[in-house]
Amino acid sequence: MAIEENILNIEGVSKSFPGVKALDRVSFNLRKGEVHALLGENGAGKSTLMKIIGGIYTKDEGSYEAFGERIDDLNPRRAEELGIAIIHQELNLCEHLTVAENIFLGREEVRFGMIAQRELNGRADEILRQLKIDLDPTTLIEDLPVSKKQMVEIAKALSVDAKILIMDEPTSALTDREIEDLFRIIGDLKSRGCGIIYISHRLEELEHIADRISIFRDGRYIITKDYRDTHLDEIISYMVGREIKEKFPRLERERGARILEVRNLNSGMVRNASFDLYEGEIIGFAGLMGAGRTELVRALFGAEHIDSGEIVLDGRELSIRSPRNAIQNGIVLGPEDRKLEGLCGKLSVRENIGLANLDRISNTLGVVNRKKERKLAEGAIGDLKIKTPSMDQLAFNLSGGNQQKIVVAKWLVRNARVVIFDEPTRGIDVAAKVSIYKIMNQLKEAGIGVIFVSSEMPEVLGMSDRILVMCNGRITGDLPAEEATGDKVLYYATRYEEEGKI
Ligand SMILES: Nc1ncnc2c1ncn2[C@@H]1O[C@H](COP(=O)(O)OP(=O)(O)OP(=O)(O)O)[C@@H](O)[C@H]1O
Ligand SMILES: [Mg+2]
Repeated sequence: MAIEENILNIEGVSKSFPGVKALDRVSFNLRKGEVHALLGENGAGKSTLMKIIGGIYTKDEGSYEAFGERIDDLNPRRAEELGIAIIHQELNLCEHLTVAENIFLGREEVRFGMIAQRELNGRADEILRQLKIDLDPTTLIEDLPVSKKQMVEIAKALSVDAKILIMDEPTSALTDREIEDLFRIIGDLKSRGCGIIYISHRLEELEHIADRISIFRDGRYIITKDYRDTHLDEIISYMVGREIKEKFPRLERERGARILEVRNLNSGMVRNASFDLYEGEIIGFAGLMGAGRTELVRALFGAEHIDSGEIVLDGRELSIRSPRNAIQNGIVLGPEDRKLEGLCGKLSVRENIGLANLDRISNTLGVVNRKKERKLAEGAIGDLKIKTPSMDQLAFNLSGGNQQKIVVAKWLVRNARVVIFDEPTRGIDVAAKVSIYKIMNQLKEAGIGVIFVSSEMPEVLGMSDRILVMCNGRITGDLPAEEATGDKVLYYATRYEEEGKI
């Protein structure tokens, strides 16, 4: 057997933030041409280590060796020169610039003049084509759906000739097709000798790509194993420190009266959507990405213009013109793109939760009652086990998964009739997923109607009482939980695909 060549060696590295020891003497190494998956619960320290490797954060102690050389004065520029590229967990693009401009942003050879622009587009096009990514380099980022933005991030990282590539949850917003593309790209990079550090909460992906895995828990290094010598249950128990018995804690409950009737709703790409929602019912919306699920729930929430159709809540027809309207009527939504809509990173955890509940915690003059606000935040942090040193921590300092929990928490403390979640468990670890399912159950038990959009088949099958499948803007399938199978859902999810293209 050939001697494995270590291209990266991290030994005893620690990193603290005020109130948090994010990393406690961890070790990690990477071999040439391998995919090494780094796994752990939300807040385990994965992204922090990646930022240290990429020269964005400095380590407090420990040693760092890349390509056999000890490195003490790392910064992002130096890391790039060494051939280290990072695809960050949170999208880091400039919304008002084009795809091409984003790919080359910050490179010194780029000048944004008229002539350079054309060359820029040409070069971006070349990279996108090489990666077989179907995107026009002149499109503005703000006009792209989340999945395409993610592909731009990937193209940006790959536009430099990386020797070490870090992917921090690259697939959390990708469609199945795009994930396949990404795995193909990963295969190419491996054969070129590039070492890849891969972070993901979608553990079922590992079997397609992982050579080795390492697991962190609460900032500590736990173990490294060859992927073929382990299995998912073992990985999960290393991550969580215990066994998780029930991945989908289904709650049986008779459904109550009808809460919501949606009749022939047309909005954007959504065509004639009709369905009912009952008290204590969980409806899961399945479908491929781009099927119109997000548009539909955004329309119900008043965030998308409604062209025609009726929305009847508790027997009363509503005219929902804005999210404010929807919230007043007891319809709330936790959106898909947390960075843009769900969360205000520059505000604290407490303020983010308070913001969605201003009417409940402020007096008629709009003055916020701090005591009420703190109480609200305290409850939510406890219920959802949000990992934060205090409620005054800025939201963007939390780990990705914990940010997602705040998006969910914001609405939970309201007295809603209908709670809608759009991809509520994206980027959330196995144990925290279960806590979100339990919250859905709590809402269900309280007689609230729950709607969730999800691209993860196991959770749609595991948690819904009824599954509505969408394809090309239409509801193509309506399956009670007892009858639903993955194959059936997929059948309805692709029903009009071909017709739609004609
Ligand atoms: N800039 C920062 N300031 C303060 N605390 C931080 C900062 N960055 C990370 N932390 C804290 O460090 C800990 C580790 O966070 P990190 O982002 O590394 O977790 P993670 O393993 O990537 O989690 P996830 O799976 O949720 O993305 C968390 O408790 C987080 O709140
Ligand atoms: Mg992270």
